Amino acid sequence: TTLESIPVVETYKFKLIEQLITITGCDVDTLYGSFIKTKAKTHGDIAISLYQLKAGNPAELAKKIVDQFKLNEYVTKVTAAGAFANFTFNHLPLYYGTIKQAIRLGKKYGTNTLGLGKFGIVEYSSPNIAKVFHVGHLRSTIIGSFLHKILDANGWSTLSINYLGDWGKQFGILAIGFQKHGSEELLKKDAIKHLFDVYVKINQDMDEDPTIDDQAKAYFKRMENGDKDALVLWQRFRDLSIAGYEKTYNRLNIKFDLYSGESQYSLSQMRVVLDELNSKGLLKPDNGALVIDLKEHGHGTAVIGKTDGSMLYLSRDIAAADYRHKTYDFEKLFYVVASQQDHHFKQLFKILELMGKTWTDKCTHISFGMIKSKNGTLSTRKGNVVFLADILDQVQEEMHNVMKKNEAKYAQIEDPERVSDIIGMSAVKIQDMAARRIKDYDFDIDRMTSFEGDTGPYLQYAHARLSSIQRKRDDISVTLENLDDIKLDLLTEPSALAVIELVQEYPNVIRELGQTYEPCNLVTYALRLSHAVSSAYNDLWVVGQPEDLAYARLALYGAARTALGNALTLLGLEPLERM
Ligand code: ARG
Repeated sequence: TTLESIPVVETYKFKLIEQLITITGCDVDTLYGSFIKTKAKTHGDIAISLYQLKAGNPAELAKKIVDQFKLNEYVTKVTAAGAFANFTFNHLPLYYGTIKQAIRLGKKYGTNTLGLGKFGIVEYSSPNIAKVFHVGHLRSTIIGSFLHKILDANGWSTLSINYLGDWGKQFGILAIGFQKHGSEELLKKDAIKHLFDVYVKINQDMDEDPTIDDQAKAYFKRMENGDKDALVLWQRFRDLSIAGYEKTYNRLNIKFDLYSGESQYSLSQMRVVLDELNSKGLLKPDNGALVIDLKEHGHGTAVIGKTDGSMLYLSRDIAAADYRHKTYDFEKLFYVVASQQDHHFKQLFKILELMGKTWTDKCTHISFGMIKSKNGTLSTRKGNVVFLADILDQVQEEMHNVMKKNEAKYAQIEDPERVSDIIGMSAVKIQDMAARRIKDYDFDIDRMTSFEGDTGPYLQYAHARLSSIQRKRDDISVTLENLDDIKLDLLTEPSALAVIELVQEYPNVIRELGQTYEPCNLVTYALRLSHAVSSAYNDLWVVGQPEDLAYARLALYGAARTALGNALTLLGLEPLERM
């Protein structure tokens, strides 16, 4: 961190602490750790919880602070309130410092280095090749990518992993299916759709012909044994599916550092896991299966493998966690997976703990609720679809139609197809992140594509409008060179100060997200900022104003645009200049 990237308000806090060290006899860390928010703005900007200081009777301490604290250019008021001392900062210099900082730091504004030296893995999306990319995977993709970005913004080193469902008997079924129903041409054209069709057909065949199941098992056995011929087809299915997923990921502005998958954990690695479980006395046979009894921990019975030697989802996860720990020595490993798998992850973490893996508490399941829709599957107006790409197409088309309605504006947009896709993806993402993760929500195309309310298009519009202010006053512009000459003290209106207060809050929002991992907190922030800016437009004009005032207001809007743009970027939206 360079000094200038520390939020201005932190300087004020330290100026406060400077005096409190002498008054209370506490050290910096204790004092810093006892800061809390005030109940309301009228109580001041920040409070110290005097209980937390453990430095004597809180009420007496409060009185002592009020008596002895010398007001100065940073702190203008101190009051005692029970076990708390409330402090009010010298607002205007703090605010103007914040504006300058936001403009100076630009895209870096709000980031911090709290996670310096820490390594975090975020595993997300993780679809199952040969089955559909369902809405649960969409949510994992959106939330996981957000989490990855939040860790980056908090200074972590990170690795994102897409842990594909690319192994198991279903690939035997698929291979047999492809021999019967497959088409090279269709596979190349759209692997995901074609493999899905083949999978459906062969499953229908299986109802009539029970031998297919044995053929599939035998085929998968060959794959497990490393039979090159058997693996060729699988490898192609995998490569072509990844290429298909990547088209969707690109649209959603998402990249993975690593494609991994269940296939990475071979039978020989499984042996190692089994031996380890055995040596800890955890495994026991149960009706042709190998299980771990977790009932005393409230997690039922975990099935690890079958006696025929085949391994399951859970055992591969044990191997994967262990491998990741050995390879990356992570500080955190996040699994972004739907709440349907809560039980699975409870079992996984309990088993790792029972195996004596001291790092188990570094593993976190980031769980989330379901996307619901009227008839159970997502559908477009044209009919039922199960493919994500079709849903995204429909959202894009809706946005494109809306844009066309404003002919004058539409004519100015360079690449309307692309812009409407960005707005569409924003709509999908914000709808997904607007409420607490664990809540279910309805996939509602009309609502999410609306330009009003808590939607992606609304946030994009707010950003584009901020960008247009500068365009409309193109005779002057705020630069790093003239920033110090701008008369920011012309900004005194309540609506201006309300915007600045929100800009000032931004770095703290990012910090807190590094603890809560709740995207909705950032969505709420972005909406609050957009609303504050929108009310500021009414009284704070730039066009037609004297130069001094116009400069000051451009700086204000510039700082707001920085904070909003950075928030949108973290939410995975590409902030638009025009729409
Ligand atoms: N492929 C799995 C599914 O679609 C999700 C994988 C989650 N990650 C894990 N390590 N188990 O259900």
